[in-house]
Amino acid sequence: MQTTIVAIGDGDTAESIDEKLSVAGDIIRRGGLVAFPTETVYGLGGDALCPASARKIYAAKGRPSDNPLIIHIAEMAALERIVCEIPKKAAKLAEAFWPGPLTMIFKKAAIVPDQTTGGLDTVAVRMPSHPLAALLIRKSGGYVAAPSANLSGKPSPTLAKYVVQDLDGRIDMILAADGAEIGLESTIVDLTGEIPVILRPGYITQKMLSEVVGETELDITIYDSDTAQAPKAPGMKYRHYAPKGELVIVEGEPHRVARYINEQAAAHEAAGLRTGVIATLEQFAQYQAASVKNAGSRCDAHEAAKKLYTFLREFDDEKIDCIYAESFADTLDQGFGQAVMNRLLKAAGHKVIHV
Ligand code: TXA
Ligand code: MG
Repeated sequence: MQTTIVAIGDGDTAESIDEKLSVAGDIIRRGGLVAFPTETVYGLGGDALCPASARKIYAAKGRPSDNPLIIHIAEMAALERIVCEIPKKAAKLAEAFWPGPLTMIFKKAAIVPDQTTGGLDTVAVRMPSHPLAALLIRKSGGYVAAPSANLSGKPSPTLAKYVVQDLDGRIDMILAADGAEIGLESTIVDLTGEIPVILRPGYITQKMLSEVVGETELDITIYDSDTAQAPKAPGMKYRHYAPKGELVIVEGEPHRVARYINEQAAAHEAAGLRTGVIATLEQFAQYQAASVKNAGSRCDAHEAAKKLYTFLREFDDEKIDCIYAESFADTLDQGFGQAVMNRLLKAAGHKVIHV
């Protein structure tokens, strides 16, 4: 398949953007697939109400079809058609955080095909804030199913070039524009029970949610890798975001962490292996390794979030064999560090060393 890559940037006017997105919207209306930027990561969009489009999305990503898709909408009125009911707490969260990086799980209406929800009787819905995403959804008929626009098992793409790397030749169009300022996928919250349950941590933190709806819970599988319980978000059970090199998270007193990683890097180098390090700004200058990445201050997880997936892909390009990451655990204040650690732990297959 020939993939059309359409760049949108400073040279564009409101009219030219409208024209380009009309073409993209027509592709989705006719059952095709278009990758587009959102404020979290790039999405791979198809018509959410069309079973054949859902099947195409799974095929293009090489994704297991039991892993449900998020339906992206552009206005509140669109929500009513695809869910059985809108619980009060969901309405409050929508009011507070939509459009934005929050996905909510509802009981699905019959109009939503089983192919989109992976056979579940619930449906995930998000209203993205990126203006191109919102316009594309409107041009596409109002309901765009969009997983992250990566091949299954690769980090979610935060730059158009990674969408091209993964999906060129597999989908109809890629909209290449700025976006993905957040860099990690949306927070997912299940609203089908009395107490909202966080199934995937993200930019909208537990503290932010609780300020709006009171008590919230975290799906136990997010922080306990040993539990026999299956995650409630089916996608969370897969070892996502995995770089080719073996990734280990190192926790402990910062100087000991740096010394341990440097010793490991020296030993690997002697054995002909290349080492990569994901370092905090505070420790960055301490490291001697083939590739050292600066993930920003350990007091602020936002820069680490924005860069993490790019680092993982760069390590692959740089043929790095072993990767060490400092810990960004900041679960005490239930902040954004929790989301960064959740993704790091998954990429590392939960390998953590305490030094
Ligand atoms: O930020 C995001 O959410 C991005 C952008 C493109 O919007 N999308 C995204 O989609 O991350 P995806 O498909 O990569 O991840 C969707 C997650 C999966 O873990 C899936 O299992 C879960 O949402 N999910 C979808 N529908 C669900 C449902 N009905 N119940 C529980 N989990 C669900
Ligand atoms: Mg994904």
